[in-house]
Amino acid sequence: MITQETIQQILSRIDIVEIVGSFIKLKKRGANYLGLCPFHNEKTPSFTVSPSKEIYKCFGCGKSGNSISFLMEAEKYSYVEALRWLAAKYNVEIEETETSPEYKQQQQVADSLYIINNFAQKYFTDALLNSEEGQDIALSYLKERGFRDEIIKKFQLGYNSEARDAFTKAATEAQYSVELLQKTGLVNIRDGNAYDNYRGRIIFPIHNQSGKVLGFGARIIKKNDKAPKYINSPENEIYVKSKILYGSYFARQAIDKADECLLVEGYTDVVSLHQAGIENVVASGGTSLTPDQLRLIKKYTNNLTIIYDGDSAGIKAALRGLDLALEESLNVKLVLIPDGEDPDSYVNKVGTSQFINFVNENKKDFILFQLGIALKDAGNDSTKKSLVVNQVAETISKINKTEDFTKQQDYIKQCSEILKIEESGLHALVNKFIREKVNKEENRVNRDQRFAEETISTDQNIPVDDDVVSLFNKDEMNERAMIKTLLEYGLKEWNEGLKIADYVFKEIEENQLEELIDNKDLIQVLKTYTKWYKDGLEPTVKNFLYYENQVESTLVAGLIDFKHQLSHNWKSKFDIHVPYGEEQYLIDVYSSLNYLKLRKIKKLIDENQKDFEKAVSPEDQMMCLQTHQHLKQMEMELTKQMGTVIFR
Ligand code: UTP
Ligand code: MN
Repeated sequence: MITQETIQQILSRIDIVEIVGSFIKLKKRGANYLGLCPFHNEKTPSFTVSPSKEIYKCFGCGKSGNSISFLMEAEKYSYVEALRWLAAKYNVEIEETETSPEYKQQQQVADSLYIINNFAQKYFTDALLNSEEGQDIALSYLKERGFRDEIIKKFQLGYNSEARDAFTKAATEAQYSVELLQKTGLVNIRDGNAYDNYRGRIIFPIHNQSGKVLGFGARIIKKNDKAPKYINSPENEIYVKSKILYGSYFARQAIDKADECLLVEGYTDVVSLHQAGIENVVASGGTSLTPDQLRLIKKYTNNLTIIYDGDSAGIKAALRGLDLALEESLNVKLVLIPDGEDPDSYVNKVGTSQFINFVNENKKDFILFQLGIALKDAGNDSTKKSLVVNQVAETISKINKTEDFTKQQDYIKQCSEILKIEESGLHALVNKFIREKVNKEENRVNRDQRFAEETISTDQNIPVDDDVVSLFNKDEMNERAMIKTLLEYGLKEWNEGLKIADYVFKEIEENQLEELIDNKDLIQVLKTYTKWYKDGLEPTVKNFLYYENQVESTLVAGLIDFKHQLSHNWKSKFDIHVPYGEEQYLIDVYSSLNYLKLRKIKKLIDENQKDFEKAVSPEDQMMCLQTHQHLKQMEMELTKQMGTVIFR
């Protein structure tokens, strides 16, 4: 356990803007800072950091908290890990009371692995630069390939001798335990004897985000058909391949600046491009991208450009992970390097500016590219072709529909042209995948929602800044909330024999819709809903997603992602706490209906006010006054009713 003194020391030094700012770009906006929320997809910033209150709050997804909860959320740290991160950042020495033995053990192993890797990196670098064997075999090889001293030193490249156990000896002499050495992958045991794992290889250290060495990639120098070209570190407490992008430590600032991340396959590609002055580049190691790696990229930019050699087997692997990138709203482009070259050899051949030009002129759209490859593979086989259609529909369905609706429509159009199929057919198929996804996510969302609700109900004391709230159109949001509530709960029981939908229809007549709701498309959805309901059809989200009217189905698809806005609104508008519980949906129904009615009444009051000003005769004035009183009475009752519902 970290002592309370340490915690207080840490807390006294932290600066939430600096902390959040090391993960996302923040811009000053009045007293606050604004940026793109790291917790949900968005294109217009609604993530607000208040330095004076030391809190952040996203008005898009509702996440909020302080510096520590931010780190816990963004880095998936535990409370203690977040404190450690902060302590390291602000140079606070950690004093500990007792820790759990397992945790301590794991922490110690991780620390030891870092120390050994640091030792090994220095050893290998020394061997490369200063030993005769290193210079003769490895350094000369690197020089021949065009790597210069400066870049070799920057990336801390190294060499391990061909001798059986040169490194092992040095490490054991330095008192490192064989067991831990094995864990790092630097040492193997055979027949009870320890020997070097990376013999006669060039060593590429792999750094974490703060520059510490997590592991190594070791490249063979001499041609050998039996041995693998590269040997990489095994998974251990610190080397977790799915979270690592080679070069990210050296690339982070350049990626931020260029607002683009270049992704290549190999270690040498990264180093060569760096040497050429192209520093916003990382490598995946030739495997498909993992969610963690995409997250890492997305911290810095939304623009990912994949640069692979044209005949690499890795392309398909790379493409495989990319549906995920679409879900994250990353813009993915693909560039293929021609004529059997890879980025390393190509930049050496043509030079920096020509390389950059080539990349910029040859960026291909990744979905269309993927489709091209798949179609070529399918040839004339019609079964395979229909699989391709399915595949592309699934890919398109992953584009975040609320944000990138036009993008999705464009793809449907372009892909159906390439496939020579009816656009509407592809449309329907895409919708089917969206529906399946919605079904799958429903459970997950329910769970997340509950979690989010708990979070919100504990942060009720966070004052809401008016200037931020006004960024959102409350009326529009309440209209949407009202339809969403109906879609979600309309078929649930209100009371004996009556469904929620019955109640709503009792409250608002169909011919009143235009008066209560501004958004024409929402009215349309409501009308369809009413019609289906009265015809004995089920007006469910699912059925709307299937519905042929694209405007309505799109709207409903968008509503599904629309979370909590209602309660935020109530909170900010009336400064009241909205409870969550079993009957939340009843409250939602009440609240949204009442909101719309209240709004209507306020409008009437305004109109009446104008009439009053224009009225000449005492009778007319009297009439207006009476109307005013009547409306005020209604307004009060509604507000009171809301109160009783809300505070139940
Ligand atoms: P490449 O074969 O393209 O190697 O593999 P490279 O990085 O271009 O190296 P040079 O230029 O031939 O020297 C691309 C990446 O795939 C991973 C490595 O991360 C490598 O950088 N790889 C490749 C392995 O992990 N193991 C292997 O046996 C081969
Ligand atoms: Mn290469």
